Amino acid sequence: MVLPIVAYGSPILKKEAEEIDEHYEGLEQLVADMFETMYEASGVGLAAPQIDRSIRVFIVDGSPFAEVEEGAEPDPMAAGLENFKKVFINPIIEEESGEEWAFAEGCLSIPKIREDVMRKPKIKISYYDLEWNLHEEEYEGYAARIIQHEYDHIEGILFTDHLSPLKRRILKKKLTNISKGEVDVPYRMKFPNLQKKR
Ligand code: NI
Repeated sequence: MVLPIVAYGSPILKKEAEEIDEHYEGLEQLVADMFETMYEASGVGLAAPQIDRSIRVFIVDGSPFAEVEEGAEPDPMAAGLENFKKVFINPIIEEESGEEWAFAEGCLSIPKIREDVMRKPKIKISYYDLEWNLHEEEYEGYAARIIQHEYDHIEGILFTDHLSPLKRRILKKKLTNISKGEVDVPYRMKFPNLQKKR
């Protein structure tokens, strides 16, 4: 089932999400619904708070980043993304390293805005999968970037929080409009400050 995606301005997006345990009801269905929702919206990652659940779960599928245009050189930052489809439960980023790099991030909760965000290129993360096996893995490039963005969501942080005050001021009107539902989005959303049409 495709779920509505919570828009910028919703309090749940600013809240630190809760860990879950193996008794959490309906987790498998929830994750299946999250994938359906993410694909419907053409996203590469989706965190549970974005579908109105304040739990420490996010999903990724970086395969769209792995596609190489004909005649183009493969992008080294995209290495390993063909099979980068995963569920992260109760993840902990153990370590981030390397020289920060800029990448224009977007977010399904903040449609039509993309801005450069600086992050470190390498991470070490531990998490549980759907069968509750514990993993510890290292990622870099776009894979690390997607994880860092989604991990922020379960910490109650949005990519716009990483921008300079000036940049945020420039975007303020657009962000307010998004929270009011005054934005054209090709997927279902839930707007916190929806204005009734007169
Ligand atoms: Ni996002």
